[in-house]
Amino acid sequence: MRVNAPDVTSPATAANPGTAANPGTAANPGTAANPGTAPIRGTGTHRRVHRGRIMHIAGSPTVSEADSALVDIPDGALVITAEGLIDFCGPFDELSALPGDVVVDHGDAFLLPGFVDAHVHFPQTYELNAYGGGQLLEWLNNCIFPAESRLADPVFARTIARDFTRARIAAGTTAAMVFGSAFPLAQDELFEATRRAGLRIVSGRGIQTQGPDSAAPLMTSESDAIALTTAEIDRWHAADTGNPDTARLLTAIVPRFTLSVTTQTLAALGELYAQVRDRGVYVHTHLNENNRPGTGEVDLVKQLFDVECYLDTYDGKFLPGSAVGGESLLGRRTVLAHCVHCTDAELARMAETGTSIAHCPTSQLFLGSGTMPWNRTVDAGVTIALGSDCGGGDEWLISKVAGDAYKVHISEPGEASVAMHPAQMLFSGTLAGARALDAESRFGNFDVGKEADFLVIDPQQWPPLERMLRNGVRDDDPQRARDQTLFALLMGMREPAIAEVYVGGDKVDADAV
Ligand code: GUN
Ligand code: ZN
Repeated sequence: MRVNAPDVTSPATAANPGTAANPGTAANPGTAANPGTAPIRGTGTHRRVHRGRIMHIAGSPTVSEADSALVDIPDGALVITAEGLIDFCGPFDELSALPGDVVVDHGDAFLLPGFVDAHVHFPQTYELNAYGGGQLLEWLNNCIFPAESRLADPVFARTIARDFTRARIAAGTTAAMVFGSAFPLAQDELFEATRRAGLRIVSGRGIQTQGPDSAAPLMTSESDAIALTTAEIDRWHAADTGNPDTARLLTAIVPRFTLSVTTQTLAALGELYAQVRDRGVYVHTHLNENNRPGTGEVDLVKQLFDVECYLDTYDGKFLPGSAVGGESLLGRRTVLAHCVHCTDAELARMAETGTSIAHCPTSQLFLGSGTMPWNRTVDAGVTIALGSDCGGGDEWLISKVAGDAYKVHISEPGEASVAMHPAQMLFSGTLAGARALDAESRFGNFDVGKEADFLVIDPQQWPPLERMLRNGVRDDDPQRARDQTLFALLMGMREPAIAEVYVGGDKVDADAV
């Protein structure tokens, strides 16, 4: 990376982007490590021009339109205002430089929007690849509930919050819907670490009011479930700016899944959500993940709650016969993980209410959950974002999750087999994630006016990727060659290639965590 600060009397031009090296300002624009306080935002006085190969999904397309919205600018300029907003995204030689522009030349590196992980479990940071001897319910019982119980220890909670946040930075996950710990102290550590890093987060403590013995330490009384969730919302929702429209720290109501809560809890959470919905609070949980006949999650929900479909339990219809028992938890700020085994009626209801899916193919492979049917789910019109589901998933990197999506959907049987376009993969890991978080107007791509969340991906730092990009066969057709390059980039990228991570124009500093 070269940093050039052009002389104010000699504005930068494409041909002469300035000379004086000024790494102290451009390379570290106001992200001083200052644990316990928010990173200073937009403290620079000049625009910053990041030069590199830009790829993003412009505008506001559907996933089916992503290929025509794919933008590739081989020598691009991503210009960011002092406030951290995107001012220009285009060819470097079309840039109208202003006096004082600071040019950061990333050479052959790629500039991509920050990844959005729509479903990741903070308390499972150390449980990737935990052997549970079975599918979802055995794995939860044998591995996950005992592991999550350890976050009751404040020292452990602080360490795991830092490690989780560093894992996010290493993977370029600038925004995430984070399934939280049952323990408020651990959630405090998570929000504090996230604030120090300057990342975006939506999270809430995992709510459990019933379950097996192994889950006992994670369970609370009915009244504590509501009191603790309400307290978390009051303490952390938009705690950084005081305004949910500008905040990076936001909260969610997070019942673990239907099997972890009672009808009384579902009724009380519906009441609570009705009160806080207008404050921009989210809902996050799991739906239709495991359908092992008779003893799997889906059948147990239907048997125990006597409902027509699993979704009804989150839609206020959780009483026997799917009778209405309370308010719905569905809506534009509700993200449901997995949705592997949905009926058409469930998908239609999600689309109708603006509820989104966090699609987690890496985890579905690991837990033997099956595959969310891609075409059928897309056709239903539901927003599909990607989730790592760590630790059910064993990859933090959303581009790897996109790669697993490609692999599982091309392996769907018969007519259902589909080869995702690389633009759909990029879309699912960036703009669709922002849409699922109801934050598409703020980030997710490089449209002018958005907050500048981006990654500098330097293939030189991961030689297997660099070699593929340099030597791989490319079509004579430039558009096909572009698609081949993006595909190789997404499939071949690993954490070491993620050289720099920016949120709202500020460089994220792992040492500040
Ligand atoms: N369903 C309920 N809890 C969990 C969890 O922790 N991980 C996954 N993958 N599914 C769940
Ligand atoms: Zn999960």
